[in-house]
This record gives sequence, C-alpha cells and structure tokens, in this order.
Amino acid sequence: MTYLAGQPILILKEGTSRKKGKDAQRANIQAAKIVAEVVKSTLGPRGMDKMLVDSLGDVTITNDGATILDDMDVQHPSAKMMVEVAKTQDDEVGDGTTTAVIMAGELLKKAEELLDEKVHPTLIVHGFKQAAEESMKNLQKKAKPFKLDDRDILKNIALTAMHSKGVGGAKEHFADIAIEAVKQVADKRGDSYSVDIDNIQITKKEGRSLLDTELVKGIIIDKEVVNPGMPKIVKETKIALLDCPLELEKTEFSAEIRIRDPTQMKAFLDEESRMLKDMVEKIKSSGANVVMCQKGIDDTAQHYLAKERIMAIRRIKKSDMEKLSRATGGKIVTNLDDLNAADLGYAATVEERKITDDKMVFVQGCKNPRSVGILIRAGLERMVDEAERSLNDALHVIADVMMQPKIVAGGGAIEAELAKELKDFATKVGGREQLAIEAFASVLEMIPRTLAENAGLNPIDILVNLRSAHEKPNGQWYGVNVFTGKIEDMMKKGIIEPLKVKEQALKSAVESASMILRIDDIVASSKSPTPPPGAGGPGGMGGMGGMPPGMM
Ligand SMILES: Nc1ncnc2c1ncn2[C@@H]1O[C@H](COP(=O)(O)OP(=O)(O)O)[C@@H](O)[C@H]1O
Ligand SMILES: [Mg+2]
Repeated sequence: MTYLAGQPILILKEGTSRKKGKDAQRANIQAAKIVAEVVKSTLGPRGMDKMLVDSLGDVTITNDGATILDDMDVQHPSAKMMVEVAKTQDDEVGDGTTTAVIMAGELLKKAEELLDEKVHPTLIVHGFKQAAEESMKNLQKKAKPFKLDDRDILKNIALTAMHSKGVGGAKEHFADIAIEAVKQVADKRGDSYSVDIDNIQITKKEGRSLLDTELVKGIIIDKEVVNPGMPKIVKETKIALLDCPLELEKTEFSAEIRIRDPTQMKAFLDEESRMLKDMVEKIKSSGANVVMCQKGIDDTAQHYLAKERIMAIRRIKKSDMEKLSRATGGKIVTNLDDLNAADLGYAATVEERKITDDKMVFVQGCKNPRSVGILIRAGLERMVDEAERSLNDALHVIADVMMQPKIVAGGGAIEAELAKELKDFATKVGGREQLAIEAFASVLEMIPRTLAENAGLNPIDILVNLRSAHEKPNGQWYGVNVFTGKIEDMMKKGIIEPLKVKEQALKSAVESASMILRIDDIVASSKSPTPPPGAGGPGGMGGMGGMPPGMM
C-alpha cells in the first residue's frame, strides 16, 4: 500500500490479490508446465488417449490436444494462455496442437532453470526470440517443395496426420476422401491455391463402418422431408431458403377468444388456414419447388405445400443454411414477403435417402461445384466423433500444403535437425543469450524424445543415436520410427508433415512462452464481493449496521 502524507492510497479494489516479481513468474510457469504435462503423453501415433468426463457425465475419449484442453475447464490465467496456444494452432493450421503446447511448456521449464541461475527474464526472452528466428530461417531452407499432382506425397501427409488417431483400418479411405474434398473446394489463385475448409461440410451418422464414410458433391442435411405427402426427390430444383417460420405467430401472453356458436369457430379456423395458405402461395409464386426452412413448418402449411408438390424441410441448422446458401447460390430470406425468383438457389437434385434407420436429405449438383459434404459412418458414437477429429486433421494438412506445397519429415526429424543447427548458432552468439539459445535447442529435442518415451523406447539412447545420425551427410531427415523403434530416414518412409504446421507450432510456442515470462505482476480481482475473514482489523465489526439482516 502506498502512503501519502500518512494517508493510505487505495488503487485496487478491496479483496484484490496481488503477486509480484519472482512469485508471479513461478506461479505462471508452474501452471503452464502442468498443462503441457497433461497433453505430453498423447503425442504421436503411440501416444495414449485421455478420457474426459464433463459435468453432465458425458464421456469423450480422445488423443487430440485441442479437444483435451478445450474440455478441461482450466482456471489459472496462464494455463488459459496455453489453451489459447492450442486453439490458435488448431484454427491456423489444424494440426500440431500437442507439439505447440509441449514446446511452450518446455520453454518455460527451461526458462525457470535459467531464472534460478540469475539470468534476467528479458535476456531469456531475447535469446528465445533469436533462436526462433534462426529456426524459422532454417525451416524454410530445409523444407522440401513438391508438386501438388504427386498423389503419394499428399496421401502420406494425410496419413501422418491421422496416425495418432483412432481410425485404424480406414485411414487410407479417409486420406483419399480428404484429398478429393480439399481439391474440390480449392480455389486457384495464380500459382497457388486458397482453401476455405468451411466449404467442406461434415455430417456424422452412427451405423455401418468407417469404410462406408462417403464424399458427396453437395450438401447433406440431417433432416427428413417434413411431410410424407411431399415428393421424395425433386430435379432441377429452385430452392427457397427461409429464416422465418411457416407458422402463425403465437402471442406472447395467453389470450382468450370467446366463441359463441359453431360458425364463429369455423370462421376462426378458416382464417388461420387462409393465412397459412397465403404463405404457401407466396412461395409458389416465387417459382420455388423446394423449401429449406430454418424454423418450423405448421401441419396445415405442410398440407398446402404437399398439394403444390413442393418439398420442404424444417428446422435446419443455421450453419447448414449458410452452406446451402453458398452451395446453391440462393439467398436466405427472413421475411416471406421479400421472397422472389432471384433469391432461389439451384441444385440438380434434392433427394431424401434412408441412411440406416434415419432419413437424410442430399442436395447434389449445386450451382457452386466447390461445396462438398462428407458423411462419416462408424459403429459407435464415440468412434464417429474421433473419426471426425481425424478427418479434420487430414483435411487441414492437405489444405495447408495446397496453400504452401512444402514438407518436412516427422518423427522428430525436423526438430532434431533444427536443434543441431541451433547449437552451432548458439556458440556464435555467445554471452548469456547463448544459454537461452541452447535451452531452445533442447526444447526442440523434446519432440523426438517424447515420441520415443510414449512408444516405450529409451529416450536417452534414441536421442544419442538421433544426434549422431544428423551429423552424417544426408542425415537431416532421420527421425524416430515409433513402430520399429529405429532411427530411420522419415522422408523416405513417408512420415511427412506440412511446413506450415511446424512453422506455426514454433511461432505460437515462443510467443506464448515469452508473454508469460514477461509478466512480473499478477493482479487478480476477487470473484466474491465478501471480504476474506479477518478483514476489517480491530473493531472491524463496525456495529450491527454492517451485519446482514438475517443475523439480527
Ligand atoms: N509413424 C510415425 N513415427 C514417428 N512419429 C510419427 C509417426 N507418425 C506421426 N508422427 C509424429 O507424431 C507427431 C504428431 O503427433 P500428434 O499426436 O498428432 O500431435 P499434434 O497434436 O502435435 O499433431 C509429429 O511429430 C509426427 O511427426
Ligand atoms: Mg497431429
């Protein structure tokens, strides 16, 4: 507390806690390290799974770093920053989340050791920054460009990303689907492509097996045609996309209508029915033969639609409506009075099909050939979910290389190579920064080390052999093959990853670790308005007026 002329100056609210200097740093580092420790055992194809149980008792079994951290409701602010690392990595490149979090955690662990040796945090941050810049340069230099029509490479990239996830025997099938799907949505811009993964819609349905997962050129809606009297298939469609109910509005409050004789009753019902018929008339006069509605459709409206041979689907998810709009070129209309022919979307066919016990609607031959859907099938709900995460990783890595066709070898190969280069660089830099740069090199080596550890191999032996392999000419792609336990040329083995994934992992790890290191003051405002017990000091009872009413 600061005093001015004997008067205390309060700048923080009562109940605010404050940690300064070393205490703040240590607390932050500790929290971040714990988060990294949690995901460490999941790294690589032989990593373990985590079982997550949420507050409602729902169980998720996964190996996916981003999912684990997302589901773990972490509280500590610096632990939350680590979760952000995973999220950024996932959003930017879709893979390498565990790698990024492990590296950030290890950087902080190394920083803690340097702090113990009285190296100033600013120096550490600066050393890390130099090491990261040098590694980025080397990454660019070492990455191998390839031709996008080389299907084997594309397939291996997808397979490497899916190695650690539970899709087992269906990997090849999933890799093929991922490549096809991304190629469909890719947009050529000069020499390169731009890919918006959001154009790929994933729909999940339990039943059958992973091998029955299929790619659909179009959109799949997990709903059925609303009324059995409607056509089950419509060709050369004109689709009205509605974000308004085809129902009569219910009043907010309950109203009472007194009806005294049967004719009045009939008039009332006729009026309702006429209004619904009007709505259908508006749709019909626009020329639409299919209605995709985000809201509900009343039974009477359904009846009139069926009579006009118009197919209708109700309560479609907002995200699916947006995809439909993009795919069919139709405009989502929020007021039926605004609907006209220009707003209608086009698809060659809209068809209801039976998938196991459920019915789904397939919209195919769309105006925009770039929209595709993937229907994931698997026996169990949990398998369907993990299959979706795998497929997502595969889609992302393929998209990454479509945008930047450069690869590096996995299995810790690229990390080991970068570490070797960094050690040389560190001696050139010298001074105290050298310590931070060397620490950075050993953080990179944590990746092959952890892969080995998770595969039950001896990490020390592996690291020694790996280092000596990298000293040899053409040794730059040697990594740990976790299935054979040997040090092998991973590029030749087809264990390959996009350059983009490694770049982003490095970048997010360094940024978050540096940010956490630069903090030397934590000011936390208290969550509960009640002051801690004992607050108030001598005579703090302050008379009965301070007591809650219940205490009197
Ligand atoms: N067959 C393999 N042998 C050794 N390492 C592999 C193999 N397949 C993938 N890897 C490595 O596994 C790591 C990725 O593991 P993963 O659990 O997917 O974590 P992340 O969330 O970081 O992508 C990468 O370093 C990758 O090179
Ligand atoms: Mg991965």
